[in-house]
Amino acid sequence: MTNELLIKSAIAHKTSTGLYFNGKSEDILQSEAMQGYKGKIQLILTSPPFPLNNKKKYGNLKEEAYLEWFTNLAPIFSQMLTDNGSIVIEIGNSWEDSRPVQSLLPLQSLMGFVSHANAGLRLIQEFISYNPSRLPSPAQWVTVNRIRTVDSYTRVWWIAKQDFPKADNSKVLRPYSKSMQKLLERGSYNSGKRPSEHNISKNSFLKDHGGSIAHNFFEIDGLDLDREPRLPNAFSFSNTSSNDFFSRQCKERGIIPHPARMPMGLAEFFIQYLTDPDDVVLDPFAGSNTTGYTAARLGRKWLSIDAKEDYAIQSRIRFEDPILSDGLQED
Ligand SMILES: C[S@@+](CC[C@H](N)C(=O)[O-])C[C@H]1O[C@@H](n2cnc3c(N)ncnc32)[C@H](O)[C@@H]1O
Repeated sequence: MTNELLIKSAIAHKTSTGLYFNGKSEDILQSEAMQGYKGKIQLILTSPPFPLNNKKKYGNLKEEAYLEWFTNLAPIFSQMLTDNGSIVIEIGNSWEDSRPVQSLLPLQSLMGFVSHANAGLRLIQEFISYNPSRLPSPAQWVTVNRIRTVDSYTRVWWIAKQDFPKADNSKVLRPYSKSMQKLLERGSYNSGKRPSEHNISKNSFLKDHGGSIAHNFFEIDGLDLDREPRLPNAFSFSNTSSNDFFSRQCKERGIIPHPARMPMGLAEFFIQYLTDPDDVVLDPFAGSNTTGYTAARLGRKWLSIDAKEDYAIQSRIRFEDPILSDGLQED
């Protein structure tokens, strides 16, 4: 089979703005037919298969093999990026098999990836994505033995090829807190020097910028507009993954949705923050294609890859969403 045919057969589906490939991303991204995308990807946004010590449904590798595999993805991903492009990787914690001990593997993997000698990458910033609704885990040690606390966050590493990747924090403002809204209404502020040496002028905080600058900390929760986020400085977004169009349709059709979907708000945040309309966003471990769908909704182009055909197939449902004008195209 020629390379062109090979890549054509790997295309699971397409829309006017994106292509979903079924296959291993290390193979697809290194194939001849992907050469045209080299240097054109503005953002790689992904949650890779987790480095679990025991095998999970979606085919995770064991510790050593995982570390080597993950680290070696760095040059492959790096060559796909524009010079000012970004890679954003979300990884949860993992635990040693049958032990109440947290594994270093996720951190080792991120460190190995970012410091790969042939990839020219650096860590731009780490984010923490806190999910207060996370079920108690690791269950044995949290709920049975009661000796550990609930593991409730994932780590999100923003990585790039240069110190100044494209980014604009004014595109991802947090809604003002209730007290800030009151302050803006009141129009006066308790001015003076603070113990921190910051000199706060009378008008310092009185200009309405439409929201405040995001912190590198997210709180994922059901969005209740009447209440402040539990953590006032966190960027709060709802984890819509249990009641969005995709999940409702999966339920209606008796399909088990991907078990580890990325929170839509997280995808939205980084796509808005780090790309412009028409930029290309790649998810090499796309699963249900939260990234591709969100990119399309925000007017970006997308490329997605997943090794499991079932996920490629179920992710087509996302493009039946009536709020998208970007429907599936036949060959
Ligand atoms: C954590 S899930 C990603 C879920 C996705 N973010 C979503 O919102 O649905 C990781 C995915 O990586 C896929 N995967 C594992 N190894 C792969 C490989 N070598 N190449 C491509 N995909 C792979 C798995 O099938 C799984 O769907």
